[in-house]
Amino acid sequence: MKIAISGKGGVGKTTLSASLAAALALQDRLVIALDADPDSNLASALGVPDGESITPLADMHDMIAERTGTDGDLSGYFKLNPKVDDIPEDYARKIGNIRLLVLGGIAKGGSGCICPATTVLKTLLLHLLVGRNDAIIMDMEAGIEHLGRATAQSMDALVLVVNDSRWSINTALRAAGLAGDLGMKKLFAVANRVTESTDIDAIAEKLGDIPLIGQIPFDERLEHGVLEPSSDGIKLSEALSDHLAAVEGIISELQNRC
Ligand SMILES: Nc1ncnc2c1ncn2[C@@H]1O[C@H](COP(=O)(O)OP(=O)(O)O)[C@@H](O)[C@H]1O
Ligand SMILES: [Mg+2]
Repeated sequence: MKIAISGKGGVGKTTLSASLAAALALQDRLVIALDADPDSNLASALGVPDGESITPLADMHDMIAERTGTDGDLSGYFKLNPKVDDIPEDYARKIGNIRLLVLGGIAKGGSGCICPATTVLKTLLLHLLVGRNDAIIMDMEAGIEHLGRATAQSMDALVLVVNDSRWSINTALRAAGLAGDLGMKKLFAVANRVTESTDIDAIAEKLGDIPLIGQIPFDERLEHGVLEPSSDGIKLSEALSDHLAAVEGIISELQNRC
């Protein structure tokens, strides 16, 4: 299961990404959580207290130089198939079964720029072999235009987060168009911040043929993240515990439809 999450800024991409990662990890799966938003905050949603101290992959210059054989000299040739299989175990922050990788500046320029850092990311996304039960969750920024074809096609599905604002739906429809152009086959939507007054049917209708596969209620407590800081494993926040069934429902839908 390789799932990318996108949608308008502030709509709840990071909250959904963290919730999916946490719920999958609770099912005893290994989850690689990729923070691909330059304005990264997946770590804090996952209850990591010192998230800002995590070195983004883009800034791991020595590792990138070593893997691509550039020795810091970016002007010459470099290996297009760097070794990446050990990156989740050796370079990620471990939160129970979750392996959190912050991509940093690499996330931009995936299509245009052919540089060592981008090459490491592309190779990582293409060749990260996940076991049958494992998952990759990629928290993206609103725009997905910088996703290269190969990267886009290496994901199984794109989940677009929406709420009842017209702008969030427009952003989702635009991302869906781009995703189609990039050859991503499976597109889904999840409604977030749903209250009693949210007209779910109206949202579903505006989404056209993008299936709405779940909804997460509005809950102020989600502001504090979905996991509690914990030294041993995964500790769900009260808010996520209360909404776990909704998140698990989204996971089942993804599993059945991918
Ligand atoms: N279902 C929800 N109910 C209440 N607040 C939410 C919900 N989902 C997200 N939020 C809050 O809204 C803000 C934006 O969410 P976030 O997940 O960071 O969005 P994005 O990653 O799309 O920018 C955060 O403060 C987050 O805690
Ligand atoms: Mg975010």
